[in-house]
Amino acid sequence: MTIKAVVFDAYGTLFDVYSIQVLAEELYPNNGADIAVKWRDKQIEYTRLITQSDPHKVSGSEYFRPFWELTRLSLEYTLDRLKLDRKSGQVEKLMQQYAHLTPFAENLAVLQKIKAKGLTTAILSNGSVDMLTSAVKSAGMEDVLDHVISVDPIRLFKTSPESYGLVQRTIPVNKDEVLFVSSNAWDALGATWFGFTTHWVNRQDLPFESLSPRPHFSGADLNSVLASLS
Ligand code: LAC
Repeated sequence: MTIKAVVFDAYGTLFDVYSIQVLAEELYPNNGADIAVKWRDKQIEYTRLITQSDPHKVSGSEYFRPFWELTRLSLEYTLDRLKLDRKSGQVEKLMQQYAHLTPFAENLAVLQKIKAKGLTTAILSNGSVDMLTSAVKSAGMEDVLDHVISVDPIRLFKTSPESYGLVQRTIPVNKDEVLFVSSNAWDALGATWFGFTTHWVNRQDLPFESLSPRPHFSGADLNSVLASLS
């Protein structure tokens, strides 16, 4: 196996989406964890609903809304669902925090080591271009990522094959020369089905999806990616 490019999912893999829980807990005592989980689940559900309902797969969904908008809509839904007040600027505060999510502690050093091996590095994300740019900048990762690829131009979210196909439209590599890294099991599975070599970062010690196949590699944090490359 020759890996030429290492491509990362963004949210949950490089940036800690559940770090939002601390602010959510401050704004809504005893609800922080519930908000973080329900918000994330609804956000991903909306991406799937839109992409699955698309009648014109090739040109992109007419129901498409940028991930930033879906993030806001799913937060509003979550607060309504939990019967929490959202009229005093809480949505704005949480969205601002989402634009500057905490990266996982080991990530920057791992990216630097991968770059030092001479490999191409990239993000492939459902995220909108602006939110990815802001997150990458806040995390100080601008110099260690060669490409930041958003699904925006094709208006289809993961796990559509078209979304994973964006990698080869940007980097001249064969599918199996891409090591695709995600901490979302569903994303690791979609990328494996697509034909990438895959690495699942299982930060929460979860079982893998019951569907097969399993990703080629897995580990507990991003350091484990270095072992997959050795
Ligand atoms: C992403 C989300 C799905 O970055 O984690 O694509």
